[in-house]
Amino acid sequence: MGIGTLIIFGASGDLTQRLLLPGLGQLLDSKRGADFKLIGVGQDKLSDSVWRSRVSSSFKAGGAKGARSQKLARETTYVQADVTNQDDLRKVLALSTGTPAIYFALPPRVTIASCEALSKISLPSGTVFGLEKPFGTDLRSAAALNRRLVKILPESQLHRVDHFLGKSTVLNVLGVRFANRILEPIWNSENIARVDIVFDETLGLEGRAGYYDRAGALVDMIQSHLLLVMALVAMEPPSSLDADDLRGSMAQVLRATRVFKGEPEHFSRRGRYTSGTIAGKKLPDYLKEQGVDPKNRTETLAEVAFGIENWRWSGVPFVLRSGKALGLARKEIIVTFKDVPHLPKGFSGATGPATLRIGLSPDVISLDLNINGEGNPFTIDRVVLETQFASGDLAPYGEVLFGLLNNDPTLSVRADEIEECWRIVAPVLTAWKHNKVDLENYRAGSNGPARWAKRALGASQ
Ligand code: BG6
Repeated sequence: MGIGTLIIFGASGDLTQRLLLPGLGQLLDSKRGADFKLIGVGQDKLSDSVWRSRVSSSFKAGGAKGARSQKLARETTYVQADVTNQDDLRKVLALSTGTPAIYFALPPRVTIASCEALSKISLPSGTVFGLEKPFGTDLRSAAALNRRLVKILPESQLHRVDHFLGKSTVLNVLGVRFANRILEPIWNSENIARVDIVFDETLGLEGRAGYYDRAGALVDMIQSHLLLVMALVAMEPPSSLDADDLRGSMAQVLRATRVFKGEPEHFSRRGRYTSGTIAGKKLPDYLKEQGVDPKNRTETLAEVAFGIENWRWSGVPFVLRSGKALGLARKEIIVTFKDVPHLPKGFSGATGPATLRIGLSPDVISLDLNINGEGNPFTIDRVVLETQFASGDLAPYGEVLFGLLNNDPTLSVRADEIEECWRIVAPVLTAWKHNKVDLENYRAGSNGPARWAKRALGASQ
């Protein structure tokens, strides 16, 4: 069933402006575009004309200039409303035509209060919800929100959005793994020593203290995006890419995941940036950023080793890391294979384990191999075989919005997956809260605390 009206709650916010609308514009002008109505809802007082010019400039920022996006930008309307108030919600819904999709681009607490109010009014049949991350603030609140939501709408009409699942490179993991006979037979603890999933950003706080200072790197990136990427890397082969099969395989591997050896105090670390320079731009100390409260002890860099307790992966550390204000934007999945059981005597030269790298940005895949070197053929050299992934026709938000507007939940996160992700990180959050792991400093523009480079997390001690 197609959607008649897209209603965005939190329309005057940063997420709508920077990510949602540019993705929507691209989708509208793509081959997959369709016509529907757009209503922006927010607490700020905005006239229709100010809202329309905001929509239009966000569409332009995303490269959308086609007739369909222009028409939508000319016709969209804005409603100032309190989305936690039943009367206001009724008024907004009365303005929609056809089946509505409601997108909650709101902080978790407001989303929870809004769902509470929505559960008390009647919704048009077929209504779908799109819910932004973070979904809840911990396992309890996420589970409570899930219980509330299924009383309002069936699970199939609930889209918990994680834009990483809309990234074409992330989806390429599926093609690489399951469309090549050579990888799957060696994709296990017999052959793989460790897997690293790294998302280091050069960007700092970017004025997002209101949200980030309460979330921190672990919740912002690892609890959601990176655990889902890990699930795609580690899951059992699904029989199809249908929503049930794909999400079932992802949920199965998440259920088997724990902090490595169950020891968060040994297999997690955290850091926070101090002032520094990145690409010629000075960044202040995180604690001096506007809106930051030192009492929150928020980390801007998090690294955790997880273990997947099943036959395929037992003993293999999956190390997930993400941070802000780092010197190098490193965004990749690195699969490190074990050494060969025996290198024939007579070979010399620097060998290292074969390594498969799947770049999450830039979109490249490369394989580091040992080969016979130039000159003396008995000296081993390293070579890198590399190719680019083709890019998708839509940016991640365009891709997830397409799923929402067509009510296809394949790229939406299922209730149990979200709860598993909170369960998995809970022991780390507790250990950090009780200061069992130091909060270390690193200079903005460096690669993290100097000490970290000396020992890889999850490496045998
Ligand atoms: C968001 C996080 O979900 O993902 C940000 O809140 C992060 O902190 C962003 O920068 C990274 O995604 P992308 O698509 O911008 O690389």
